[in-house]
Amino acid sequence: SNPSVLILPGDGIGQEVMAEVRKIITWFGDKRGLNFDVSEDLVGGAAYDKHGVPLADETMAKAQEADAVLLGAVGGPKYDDLDFSVKPERGLLRLRKEMDLYSNLRPAQCFDALADFSSLKKELVAGLDIMIVRELTSGVYFGEPRGIFEEGNERVGINTQRYTESEIERAARSAFELAMRRNKKLCSMEKANVMESGILWREVVTEVAKDYPEVELSHMYADNGAMQLVRAPKQFDVILTDNLFGDILSDCAAMLTGSLGMLPSASLGAPMENGRPKALYEPVHGSAPDITGQGKANPCACILSFAMALRYSFDQGDEATRLEQAVEKVLADGVRTGDLMQSDGGTPVSTSEMGDAVVAALEAS
Ligand code: NAI
Ligand code: MG
Repeated sequence: SNPSVLILPGDGIGQEVMAEVRKIITWFGDKRGLNFDVSEDLVGGAAYDKHGVPLADETMAKAQEADAVLLGAVGGPKYDDLDFSVKPERGLLRLRKEMDLYSNLRPAQCFDALADFSSLKKELVAGLDIMIVRELTSGVYFGEPRGIFEEGNERVGINTQRYTESEIERAARSAFELAMRRNKKLCSMEKANVMESGILWREVVTEVAKDYPEVELSHMYADNGAMQLVRAPKQFDVILTDNLFGDILSDCAAMLTGSLGMLPSASLGAPMENGRPKALYEPVHGSAPDITGQGKANPCACILSFAMALRYSFDQGDEATRLEQAVEKVLADGVRTGDLMQSDGGTPVSTSEMGDAVVAALEAS
């Protein structure tokens, strides 16, 4: 049977950009014989409207079964005043938690045609292609004890940075596996100079490295890493880091490449029985209420997230590259949604025209 893909468009522009991904999926079926069993369900505010919760149990079960989950975005002003327990974001958090998606892959890739959009000088970023692997399910966002407590005559806010060896090890393995598929170069970032969790992190990563003798491993303090990332980003290939540092470093790296509308991501967990990892693919951007329903959203981040699914869930690296090159070709031809234009840049194309242009570029490939 065909591999299964569960599509969760979510809210706002999530629905608009996912419609374009569907065109791409159809093209791969029709023209490349890559057929998927695609089903669609609700998440976020859309699920709340129907079920009173941001992710129904049936949807959660479907996600656990799927070979890959593709998510659009969740949230929007309509849901801002909801109780914390049913906020749209909770749907996404539940997916990540119950699927145990511990490895978050955030590529920072600068398409030449967009190098002008970078926050950095063009020559620093042209051709940039790095991948940040962020541990996603542990560390200071989850460690206990946590809370705001009374202490003497004032309050204290507490979070705990906590990592077990096995948590570090599985994140490290996924980064080394990735490095093997790429340029066999990995930089691990922590703060072993001032944090015990950082010392353990460095020890475990060094131990895992013995299983990957071909990979050139380096270590860097995360603060220096932040500096190096904006000073000379092309020195990096794969960067491995923890949840907190990864949150910050990946947002920083994102701005090296320009637009939010171009950034995909993957969150991977342990292999399932069929050998494929549990996997959720989503654009980095949110539901963009300011442009929802206007045909202005750039679908590329979501399309590139599907390219990551082709590569990491379906072992179709060549087809993933084909899709990425189609996006690159469209940009090089000057086809732009509004977010990819300077103010005097001419007439933007619509979400759907952008999707059609990518399909046309695939057709020509
Ligand atoms: P956002 O990413 O939705 O939008 C930020 C800005 O970037 C807006 O001006 C938007 O128009 C623009 N933008 C974003 N994606 C774009 C695209 N594909 N094409 C063109 N322009 C694009 O972040 P914001 O405004 O902070 O949050 C809006 C809602 O989305 C909130 O409810 C927030 O909670 C939610 N959100 C959801 C995320 C997710 O589902 N993973 C991630 C971030 C925010
Ligand atoms: Mg962040």
